[in-house]
Amino acid sequence: MTFLTKLAIAASLATALTSTAMAADLVVGFSQIGSESGWRAAETSVTKLEAEKRGIDLKFADAQQKQENQIKAIRGFIAQGVNAILVAPVVATGWEDVLSEAKEANIPVILLDRGVDAPQDLYLTSVASDQVKEGHVAGQWLVDTVKDKDCKVVELQGTVGSTPAINRKKGFEDAIAGHANISIIRSQTGDFTRAKGKEVMEGFIKAENGGKDICAVYAHNDDMAVGAIQALKDAGLKPGTSPLVVSIDGVPDIFAAMVAGEANATVELTPNMAGPALDALDAYLKNGTMPAKFIITESKLYTPADNPQGEYDSRKGLGY
Ligand code: AHR
Repeated sequence: MTFLTKLAIAASLATALTSTAMAADLVVGFSQIGSESGWRAAETSVTKLEAEKRGIDLKFADAQQKQENQIKAIRGFIAQGVNAILVAPVVATGWEDVLSEAKEANIPVILLDRGVDAPQDLYLTSVASDQVKEGHVAGQWLVDTVKDKDCKVVELQGTVGSTPAINRKKGFEDAIAGHANISIIRSQTGDFTRAKGKEVMEGFIKAENGGKDICAVYAHNDDMAVGAIQALKDAGLKPGTSPLVVSIDGVPDIFAAMVAGEANATVELTPNMAGPALDALDAYLKNGTMPAKFIITESKLYTPADNPQGEYDSRKGLGY
């Protein structure tokens, strides 16, 4: 073995050791909203898995739906001197101070799945879906499905003040605008939870002649749709036939509802926001590569024509 070969082997060994050590040394704080939905639980599992795969020490903080807990957790991460912070912001406003503190401490922040109303230089990148598009895809599906038929829609909104609630509402309204036969007759928050979705749907059914006049339910997430389906069945109605049910996320339970003929469409939201986020972070920390400010995930429509049993089987166990 020549000296140069020995040198090359030693150098590559050293590089391998250094990069393993770098990954192992990386400490990332993750401020998660809570566990309001099946999708959220999956995002948490996938994030932990993606961190583990990369040898990252992930400090996890569950905010139990409270922004004040998220702010406290982020301040804690800054005090610990973590290398980066991931945050799924529960609502859009009220982040400027804490994000500025992270910036002053030179800690890059990456937003996951929801946006903030704050200057863009306060975060490295945002990995999320195009939430207006998600609402639009759901609305367009309804427009194409009901055609010229009159259709009264009830809407279950997500958490008040959150970007998916604001944007999914807007996207849906944009899609049905200009179709005078389709109108939203009731709209209320179900806070992205199954229990609240059921409770609010029960109120809609009572207020709307036992639900007989409701043509479609639009829920900002699948969990609320699943809760609404239960309320409709309890009232003797046939969700999936009358009313139609359209929602967003693509969790296994909505595919099970499609198999049972009780749900009609969902717009998929991947729970893997952490993969692209940690790739972007890795490149940034290694050589200063600036990621795109917005990394947008796909928004694909699924209906009972798309093998819901297969979709259920392939998702079940993936952290859901
Ligand atoms: O921010 C993403 C939304 O939050 C998901 O659609 C919903 O299920 C979750 O709780």
